[in-house]
Amino acid sequence: TLAVPFVQELAKKGLTSVPPRYVHHDQDPPIISLDSCSPQVPVIDMQRLLSEDFMDSELQKLDQACREWGFFQLINHEMSSRLVEKLKLETEEFFKLPMEEKSKYGQQEGDVEGYGNVFVVSEDQKLHWGDKLFFTTSPPHLRKPHLFPNLPPSFRFSLSLSVNSNVNNCTDLFEDTLEAYSTGLINVAAIILGLIGKNLRIENNELALLSEGRQTMSFNYYPPCPQPEQVIGIAPHSDASGITILLEVNDVQGLQIKKDGMWIPVKPLPNAFIINIGDTLEILSNGAYRSIEHRATVNSLKERISVATFCSPKMDGEIGPAPTLVTPETPAMFRRISTIDYIKGLLSRKIDGKSYLQTMR
Ligand code: SIN
Ligand code: FE2
Repeated sequence: TLAVPFVQELAKKGLTSVPPRYVHHDQDPPIISLDSCSPQVPVIDMQRLLSEDFMDSELQKLDQACREWGFFQLINHEMSSRLVEKLKLETEEFFKLPMEEKSKYGQQEGDVEGYGNVFVVSEDQKLHWGDKLFFTTSPPHLRKPHLFPNLPPSFRFSLSLSVNSNVNNCTDLFEDTLEAYSTGLINVAAIILGLIGKNLRIENNELALLSEGRQTMSFNYYPPCPQPEQVIGIAPHSDASGITILLEVNDVQGLQIKKDGMWIPVKPLPNAFIINIGDTLEILSNGAYRSIEHRATVNSLKERISVATFCSPKMDGEIGPAPTLVTPETPAMFRRISTIDYIKGLLSRKIDGKSYLQTMR
């Protein structure tokens, strides 16, 4: 990572045009507009997935969503909405902090974790119209001591006492918001991955790469832009994760996914998580499930904030197709690689569609 300006600061300068390093000339416009008749990513109901009566049909829907879309919205996910709302508020508070405060968490040389710009690997590379705060949340021994355990208090402690709080929920009251959100999503991810494993008919131990994996979070901030069509919040890419769980923080739309060659805007449902298949799950499923290219667009009026939680392979693991899915009829589509080498390769490249996954074939 190379030091580049914070886009949030740049956007405050009242520019009328964007600096050349941020201009992306080669963008396809969204083909389908954000109206009610555009196709939408499937909606999966977690309560149905966990109920005896509806499980089979919802599992089938999940399988279809993973095969045909690589994206779905998860509703009724059982995460406390109070907790999620608190996290949203605290995320907004973080980006409102003065630059001196935020830059205490700045990316350090040679490290992608911290507060900074998105994937900068070369001096002449085009830049993204967005900043992010990125760090490891689990397992705890992989946390960077200067980040997660040391974030501003607004991020770590409950902001306010709820009116009807009582002695019984005082543990909740002092619970670290991020810690609780992280744990909650580890549980949600474990359930979804378990069911994906069931759909793929692979063994539990073949899922361990992801179910015992690493969790990282990216808090993304996209300021308004005077020429939104000239820039991109995040350029087209697929995620390197197993699955990614995205939370839209402030109801400003921007995520688009590439389906059948078209860019489709995703309209987040209230209280939903947007979940997508990453490259590692494409590899593990031997190509049965596909990671999908997506991008984040920005607009001229409003900032957009999102929180992406990545469920990634465990650091001491080996990434490759699940042995159960490699047969004479379905030979291995990807080579095996250690997680360490996979991440090293990833960090040395600029983000560019699904090009990194192609090198795993
Ligand atoms: C990402 O793909 O990493 C972020 C997408 C978003 O902000 O919607
Ligand atoms: Fe992504």
